[in-house]
Amino acid sequence: MGKNKFITYENVFDQSTLRGLFKVSSQGYFDEIKSPVKIGKESNVFTVESGDELRIVKVYRTAASFAKMMDYMRADPRYMNVNGSKLTVVYAWAKKEFANLLKARKGGVTVPTPYAVHKNILCMEMIGDSTPAPMLHKRSPDNIELFYKRLRREIKKLYKARLVHTDISEYNILNFNDKPVLIDFSHAVDLRYPGVEKFLMRDINNLVRYFGRFGLDLDADEEYAKIVAK
Ligand SMILES: Nc1ncnc2c1ncn2[C@@H]1O[C@H](COP(=O)(O)OP(=O)(O)OP(=O)(O)O)[C@@H](O)[C@H]1O
Ligand SMILES: [Mg+2]
Repeated sequence: MGKNKFITYENVFDQSTLRGLFKVSSQGYFDEIKSPVKIGKESNVFTVESGDELRIVKVYRTAASFAKMMDYMRADPRYMNVNGSKLTVVYAWAKKEFANLLKARKGGVTVPTPYAVHKNILCMEMIGDSTPAPMLHKRSPDNIELFYKRLRREIKKLYKARLVHTDISEYNILNFNDKPVLIDFSHAVDLRYPGVEKFLMRDINNLVRYFGRFGLDLDADEEYAKIVAK
């Protein structure tokens, strides 16, 4: 099997990403790209097949949207460094999400199990049955109170694992059969991070706002105290 197994995506990915996908695939983490889940500004997310299992591949955007600009810059020695450091940052970002997922997982938080990270490519467990579970934004909970309580338990476990998500909203929570699953851990920080309390409070305020729309009256300070309590 050659590199042209990803031929359909030739125009979606730059050469380096195509090589990366081929590498992760040949290491046995997946066989084929199945379908796009989200084409975004910072990343493109796909379902992939691994035997008869579906998984997720998240491809952080690097040169993809700037391919031409990058080709142009690469040719100019003044910009070699700019290009290099941009890639370094993106690769570090992907690695960070992998490490954060692993840490959360070890702390007993329900998150997608990360399988592999290579350059700007992250392969992980797909949350969902035969299709990816919807974002909370798309599917609100049937049982608001129970859903929130479960979510708070997850955030508390995450905190015990010394992590704060920092980007919690209805867009980064999946509703999997009325159970919350946090995703998108590239922004998550360790508790030692300066100002981490503010990030946690911001996460909580996002939830207070979201759940308030469904009539759940939460007090941000009280929720904060419950999460950080031993
Ligand atoms: N493991 C997963 N299982 C099911 N669906 C997923 C999974 N990971 C991502 N998705 C879907 O893909 C979408 C985008 O994923 P994610 O939030 O991680 O990327 P993003 O918002 O582009 O990230 P970033 O903010 O780092 O650019 C999610 O909203 C969700 O619908
Ligand atoms: Mg997201």
